[in-house]
Amino acid sequence: MIEEIQILNNKSAAQKPRAVEISETTNGFNVYIETYGCQMNVNDSEIVAGILAQSGFGITDKIDNSNVILLNTCSVRDNAEAKIFKRLEQLRFYRKQNSKLLVGILGCMAERLRGKLVGHQDLVSIVVGPDEYRKVPEMIEQSMNGEVGIAVKLSRVETYDDIIPLRTQGISAWLSIIRGCDKFCTYCVVPYTRGRERSKPFPVVIKELIDLYELGYKEVTLLGQNVNSYIDMENKVDFAKLLVECAKAVPSMRIRYTTSHPYDMTDELIEAMASHHNICNYIHLPVQSGSDRILQMMNRHYTVEHYLDRMRKIKELIPNCSLSTDIITGFPTETEDDHKATMDLMAEVRYDGAYMFNYSPRSKTKAYMMEDDVTPDVKGRRLTEIIEQQNKISRELNEAEHGLIHEVLIEGTSKKNKNEWQGRTDTNKVVIFDNYEQNYKIGQTITCKITRSTSGTLFGDVV
Ligand code: SAH
Ligand code: SF4
Ligand code: F3S
Repeated sequence: MIEEIQILNNKSAAQKPRAVEISETTNGFNVYIETYGCQMNVNDSEIVAGILAQSGFGITDKIDNSNVILLNTCSVRDNAEAKIFKRLEQLRFYRKQNSKLLVGILGCMAERLRGKLVGHQDLVSIVVGPDEYRKVPEMIEQSMNGEVGIAVKLSRVETYDDIIPLRTQGISAWLSIIRGCDKFCTYCVVPYTRGRERSKPFPVVIKELIDLYELGYKEVTLLGQNVNSYIDMENKVDFAKLLVECAKAVPSMRIRYTTSHPYDMTDELIEAMASHHNICNYIHLPVQSGSDRILQMMNRHYTVEHYLDRMRKIKELIPNCSLSTDIITGFPTETEDDHKATMDLMAEVRYDGAYMFNYSPRSKTKAYMMEDDVTPDVKGRRLTEIIEQQNKISRELNEAEHGLIHEVLIEGTSKKNKNEWQGRTDTNKVVIFDNYEQNYKIGQTITCKITRSTSGTLFGDVV
């Protein structure tokens, strides 16, 4: 059974484990951090690396050089956690080679499973939740004396606004502006693993942005589980205003944001995007279901009509905006009619891409109390249907790009072919082009004419 699929490459970087590189050790510890889950976790790993580097810890991108391995984990679906348990089994191999190797669990699984992880496989000696990362250096040191440590308190104020994340890729930066989530969708574990919403003060966001610009970054993505509920009460800045101020502060940088909630997708926010050329024309707006009954059971706070009205407004003000969404199939009580309503909504909106998942019951959530009554076979079949429909739409929308000209920010060489370059359009589509002998540089923006495509990638020639 297919469990999930992502089309459109914007989150692909967050799907595979990645290692944070490199800072020299002055205290003998070399830490290897592996990141799973969403972009917030990617930025959190950079924050942890920043905290560690400042205390003299080395950060390495080579697991074989490390004597501390930290897994920054995700709990959003059961398979995300299963992946970590598998990984821990593999890590026993490293422990066999080095009996002093220390393994720690960070992130949402640490918060959710807490003490249950300590000593897992005789391996895990520190467990640190998302709001306690300042304690990581001290906890690593203590665990060398044989102590096991757990720090999983959630905070109402922690935003790590004085920490400089150790970023390693110099073109595109993640910048968390709000942590936590207050929406409590009935299926979702995030409010329990990340705690209450709190926003970084407006002046801090602008300062971090300007620092990134001065370091040579070309693009920044403002992050939050619910990024458009950002609010700085003291300075009276909401998300639409913040976006405008960011766009004005660094006019030559591309500004992106994720993830927004349909309930908070205000006219002002859409207008802000339409009136600033450096705010990218791409919106990820998770709809989850096309059935009002299911949306209500999910506690999503909007109807299909509200959602479609937001889509209309976006298409009216930003005609070339690219759109993506998240869909959950097989939520408790979902009928064929509900499923068809989701298919219809996707056909009406015509998303450029979608992230599609089978419902996974999570303990503590409200939906956990509901019977998970859609059988795995039916869930699997419905998921296949929405994936096939989405693939077809993505392919058609990409074909409609043939002959169009895009500004492409070069990100590096193509993963498949080292003789080709890879970049991204303002609309967040990956473009592959060759002319490798030309001396292009990572971070340069070039103009490409699209010549062919697949459902996930555009191919073009430099013009
Ligand atoms: N805050 C963001 C992202 C949350 S997690 C948002 O609201 O969109 C990313 C996606 O995972 C969600 O949009 C949802 O589609 C999916 N998801 C969350 N909990 C899930 C669960 N229990 N089972 C299946 N998918 C889930
Ligand atoms: Fe989860 Fe809903 Fe919050 Fe997104 S908005 S993180 S789906 S509770
Ligand atoms: Fe996963 Fe936590 Fe992000 S549950 S999706 S890593 S906020």
